[in-house]
Amino acid sequence: MTKTGNNEIYSTEEKALCLSGKGVTKVFGSGDKKCIAVNNVNFKFHEGEFVSIVGESGSGKTTLSKILLGLLNPTDGEIFFKGEPRDISSIKKRKEYWKGTQAIFQDPFSSFNIFNKIDTVLLDCLKMRGVKRSDKQEQVRLMTEACNFVNLKFAELTNKYPFELSGGQMQRLMIARIFLLKPKILIADEPTSMIDACSRATILDMLLKLREEIGMTIIFITHDIGLAYYISDSVYIMEHGKIVESGLADEVILNPKAAYTKRLINDVPKIHEAWDLDTV
Ligand SMILES: Nc1ncnc2c1ncn2[C@@H]1O[C@H](COP(=O)(O)OP(=O)(O)OP(=O)(O)O)[C@@H](O)[C@H]1O
Ligand SMILES: [Mg+2]
Repeated sequence: MTKTGNNEIYSTEEKALCLSGKGVTKVFGSGDKKCIAVNNVNFKFHEGEFVSIVGESGSGKTTLSKILLGLLNPTDGEIFFKGEPRDISSIKKRKEYWKGTQAIFQDPFSSFNIFNKIDTVLLDCLKMRGVKRSDKQEQVRLMTEACNFVNLKFAELTNKYPFELSGGQMQRLMIARIFLLKPKILIADEPTSMIDACSRATILDMLLKLREEIGMTIIFITHDIGLAYYISDSVYIMEHGKIVESGLADEVILNPKAAYTKRLINDVPKIHEAWDLDTV
């Protein structure tokens, strides 16, 4: 693997903390059905940092991202926002938190109200940004710009419902929302899983540009350690709900300590090696 990406030298020392967590745990069910999806994890994410959380299916990545967004309460532990205990106990406080913290979820269809047309999805973002309802021209200009940003044509989307779009189009639409909202923190849970490789690279580039433009912190959730290495400043490796290793992407991936990280790296397909189908 060679790294051609963003930060060859990255330091979190002088960066301000935005989200952090101590002993964060989430248990689903009880008795025989008990599942510790997130198990006593600690993390520190800084302003403007590109962090990847890497792990296999079922390792607890989506559960952790829902806790970060405030959609799930942890069973134990605490989340801190800018170093202070995060308080999203009232609807008003939650709305305020979501102004600055947004997410793109793995399953884009579950994130939209299927009875709302696409226009409503984008208009809601403009409302959150404080664009006047009466200024129709400005609304269309901003929505068109956001759609162009992700290679969608606004004119083709108006009057459509989410279920009339493909998975890839829906994921693009979610990223167009981020372009309109410009949150300070973005939680991106496998945000391009339904998008072809070529557009994926373009969209990841766009996210990096947004980060530069507005100093956005990106918490990027993926099972792809090669991509995480290429794109991130720091990585957290998750196995069965636990963080088994974390640190700067270069340090962790070029010099892995945990057996699980080593295995994930060894599992990255190497394009020049012949496949031994007997072992697949
Ligand atoms: N609402 C729920 N109720 C019960 N168990 C759950 C619930 N949500 C997740 N789990 C369990 O928690 C564990 C972690 O799930 P999670 O969705 O966080 O994994 P993931 O790392 O995002 O996986 P994937 O890469 O497949 O998306 C799994 O064993 C899952 O079955
Ligand atoms: Mg998931």
